[in-house]
Order: sequence, then C-alpha cells, then structure tokens
Amino acid sequence: MRKTAALLSALIILLLAPAVAMSQSVDDKALRALLAAHGQSPLQSPPFMISPKFKFGQALYFDPVLSGAREVACATCHLPIRGTSNAQALAVGVDGRKLGEDRLTGGRGNETPRNSPDVWNRGHPDVQNMFWDGRVALDDEAIREARYINQDDTTIYFESPMDDRFPDGIENLLAAQALFPITGVDEMLGRPGDRSDSELPDDHANLPNELAQAAKGAEGTRKIQLVHEALVERLFAPDLRATDVDEDGELELKEWQKEYRRMALDAFPDLTLHDLSIIELVNAIGHFEKIAFATRNAPWDDYLRGDRGAISESAKAGALVFFGKGRCAVCHAGPLFSDFEFHSLAVRQIGPGKNISSDDLGRYHVTEDKADLYKFRTPPLRNVTLSAPYFHDGVALTLRAAIRHHNDPLNLSDSEFEDGTHSWNIGKRKSVSYILAAGLKLNDSEINQLIAFLETLEDDLTDLMPEIVPASVPSGLPVAALYSSE
Ligand code: HEC
Ligand code: HEC
Repeated sequence: MRKTAALLSALIILLLAPAVAMSQSVDDKALRALLAAHGQSPLQSPPFMISPKFKFGQALYFDPVLSGAREVACATCHLPIRGTSNAQALAVGVDGRKLGEDRLTGGRGNETPRNSPDVWNRGHPDVQNMFWDGRVALDDEAIREARYINQDDTTIYFESPMDDRFPDGIENLLAAQALFPITGVDEMLGRPGDRSDSELPDDHANLPNELAQAAKGAEGTRKIQLVHEALVERLFAPDLRATDVDEDGELELKEWQKEYRRMALDAFPDLTLHDLSIIELVNAIGHFEKIAFATRNAPWDDYLRGDRGAISESAKAGALVFFGKGRCAVCHAGPLFSDFEFHSLAVRQIGPGKNISSDDLGRYHVTEDKADLYKFRTPPLRNVTLSAPYFHDGVALTLRAAIRHHNDPLNLSDSEFEDGTHSWNIGKRKSVSYILAAGLKLNDSEINQLIAFLETLEDDLTDLMPEIVPASVPSGLPVAALYSSE
C-alpha cells in the first residue's frame, strides 16, 4: 500500500515536473516586446580610461585633506567597497570613527539627516538632478539639450543652492554636486574650533581648522565661497615659492602640496598655478566619478543585447513583474531605472530629519510647493544590490523590505510600528503616489523574482577596484577606503 502510494506520488511528480518547469520559463519574445515598449536599451558608458584628470580627481575623492580637520573624504561616505554608499542608514562624517557599518559618531559631529546615496552612473546624460530632493539640477533649458551635455560648445545651466553665484566653468552635474559636501558642517567642514588629530602624519597633526575659520560668521553662498577659497589655499598654497622658509628655517611649501600642484597642472595643462580654483577641483572629482563609477558589465545589458542565457528564468519572471504588474518601471524607467522625478512613498522617517520636527519634507524643502511634500527623487537602481540600507533615511535594511514597502505603502508602514510609536500624519498619508497607493498585491514569490531581476543589474567593478581605489593619497593621510570587509 505504502509502496503504491510512493509510486503514485513519484508518477505525479514526473508528470507535473515538466508543467511546473514550463510555467516557470518565461517567453523571451513576450518579455522583449514588453521591454521594447518600455524603450529599454543597453546602458552606454564611457570607456574606463586613466588620464591625468582622472588621477587628480581620484586623489581628491579619497583624500581626507579636503575636510576641515583632515579626517573625512568623499570616499568615507561613498565607499566603493560598500556599493559607493557606506552601509549606514544615516551617514556620519565629521569626527566619525571607523568605516562602513561600524562607523560611529565621536561626539563632535552629528549624523547627516539623509542616507548617503550610491553614486553609480551619475555622469550619464539621463541624470538630471542630484540629491534625494534634486536641489542641484540642470535647469530646464539644459535638460532639453541634455543630449549635447558633453559637447564643449554647449553652456550648461544649473539650479543649486548657490543660485546666481554659481561659478562659471562647471563641466557637469557631478562637478556641480561636489561644490557642496566640503562646505557641510557635519559632512566634511567641521567647526572653527576643531583641530586635526595629533596622531596624524607630521604635516597634518594638531592643526587648526582654517577652512571653517575662514567662513566664520559668513552665511549662505558667501560662506560656501570662503570655504572653497580656503581649500584651494590649503592644497596649493599658490603664493608660496618652493624656496620660502619659515622662522625655523624649514621649507614652507610641503611636498604633498607640490604633488597637488603637479597633478592639477597635469590635469589642466592650459592653466598656471594662479589660475587654479575650486572649479578645477570639482571638475576633476566629477570626471573621476563619471569614469570610475560607470557600470559596464551587468548581465541585464547582455540579455538586452540578445544573450538569452545571460539571466535566470526567475530574473526574467522578475523583469515581467518589474515592467508589468509591479509598475516599477513607471518611475524606475530607462537604462538607469529612474525617471529623475519626485514621488512620495510615505517612507517612515528616522533620524534628525530636515526640519525642526525631525521630519523630512523632501522636494518641498526645495520648491516650497505643497504638492511636493514628502516627495523624493526616484533612486536609480543599477548596483542597488550593493548599497543597503535603502530609502532617503536608510530605514529599509534590505531590498526585500524596500520592495515590501512599495507593495503596500499605506498599510505596511503602519504595521512596522508594533510598539505604537508611530502616528500617521494625515498629510503624509495623502501624499503617497497614486501609482502605489492602492497596493500592488505582489506575493512573496513575485518579490523574490523582483530581487532576482535587480541582481542582474549588478556590476560590482571588482576587476577595476585596484585601479579605482588608490594605495595612497598625496597628503599621506590614511586613505579613506576599504578594499574588503575585513
Ligand atoms: C558625511 C558623509 C558624506 C560625505 C563625506 C560626502 N557625501 Fe556625498 N552624499 C552624502 C549624503 C547624505 C548625500 C545625500 C544628501 C541629500 O540628498 O540631501 C550625498 C549625495 C551625494 C551625491 C548625489 C548622488 C545623487 O544621485 O543624488 C553625490 C554625487 C555625492 N554625494 C558625491 C560626493 C563627493 C564627490 C564628496 C566629496 C567631495 C561627497 N559626496 C562627500 C554623504 C556624504
Ligand atoms: C511612484 C514611483 C515609484 C514606483 C512605481 C516604484 N518606485 Fe521604487 N522608489 C521610488 C522612490 C521615490 C523611492 C525613494 C523613496 C524614499 O527614499 O523616500 C524608491 C526607492 C526604491 C528602492 C530603494 C533604492 C535606494 O537606493 O534606496 C528600491 C529597491 C525600489 N524603489 C524598487 C522598486 C521596485 C522593485 C518597484 C516595483 C515593485 C518600485 N520601486 C516602484 C519610486 C517608485
């Protein structure tokens, strides 16, 4: 009897297996038709080329000497090995200890109000704005001409907190963005009373924060300009000659400053020492980011180019959900998977927030238009597998949590607060995008398929890492980077 039952179930399995397999296999033709309807095409990226400008930008990106107390670099919060983010919900800059998920505030600085976004592919022409609220952007005219953005004869206009004091000569959005972190008190600048650590190498130990001092008492755009000028002075000391000595008879111009002069003039051969300004610094950083963090090898692009075996069946099923029932591509559109528009998902707020009631009103902080309350820019999704945690405040620890929130933004968020600490703000409830408000009704298997699909967007750049992360930086300060998780 038992034997018959076993035989019977074996037979059933045998009979059913092909049917199950068939129901799981995705019709490539149907998927390709759907992708064509969405205008999906393989990502075009600039070739990986190391030039003097790349080298200069690379040094600046990894060198903590750009920060007031010589302790924080861009890479501290945008670590290549942490998916160009930093594995923390809210980034810690000034006076932080350690890197990645272990980073703590030392007490002198505060955590930033927002999650440090990844910086993959931000030099791509589709990128129209920067930051979770898009406060640095190409202006409308430039957006219309975006396809010409890389041609030398096109003037690019920017919207930014610097308004009409925005300097001339900024090459792209990445360069425009780089004007700001160095002036952020908790990000890199610090406070006028800060001193650098006495354990740092000789040229940098126990020094006052002359960058913050230069800007003391100034406000707004003027403050930004004063920090920029002081930074140029720190790096190049343009008025010192190589032979100048101080009272103790020591050469005043440091070797590392000579190195920065050399690198800058190699990168910008038409300029002289006295021409160098913040423009060259940020243009070099922007150039480095554009080349170094462009992704080129995702299985998804291979699939789009016609290689049917490049991605798994479950990833294909996930693509069907992404471009179909899940409605993901309505907002996560194009080769970077963002419309660069603003939407509200009523994401739960944690951390200090952006306003006095510890909330973050998103795009509203830029436009002051009530229609923009709680809206954030759709984040691009290439390499999203590498940059947890997610959302503007890092409240979603995993991709699954981020997707589950989209699945039912109004109800799930409620149930996240079993301890009853959260009271729904009616305005925030109402702000949720109509595309998601009714609930997507995705089941667990569809969510797994979506994750499998997002994994095909991954290009971790492992092979290039040794060329992207330098072994040392000109200042001789410890390189703000991790190669591995050890
Ligand atoms: C203390 C951590 C920290 C440091 C240091 C830092 N950033 Fe960021 N970065 C952030 C955070 C947080 C945001 C998002 C802020 C917001 O949206 O309001 C951000 C946003 C960005 C963005 C915009 C990405 C996008 O698509 O919106 C770029 C690019 C970027 N940073 C590059 C840099 C560069 C270059 C430097 C060094 C000059 C730097 N960052 C230093 C934390 C940091
Ligand atoms: C209405 C537009 C919209 C739709 C539809 C949408 N998203 Fe999003 N998505 C966003 C916005 C906006 C954010 C950021 C919200 C925030 O941080 O407050 C986001 C964040 C994310 C993140 C986190 C990325 C990061 O770097 O933090 C992932 C992953 C994601 N979406 C995947 C999806 C998937 C999968 C779908 C389909 C099931 C989807 N999205 C549908 C707008 C949308």
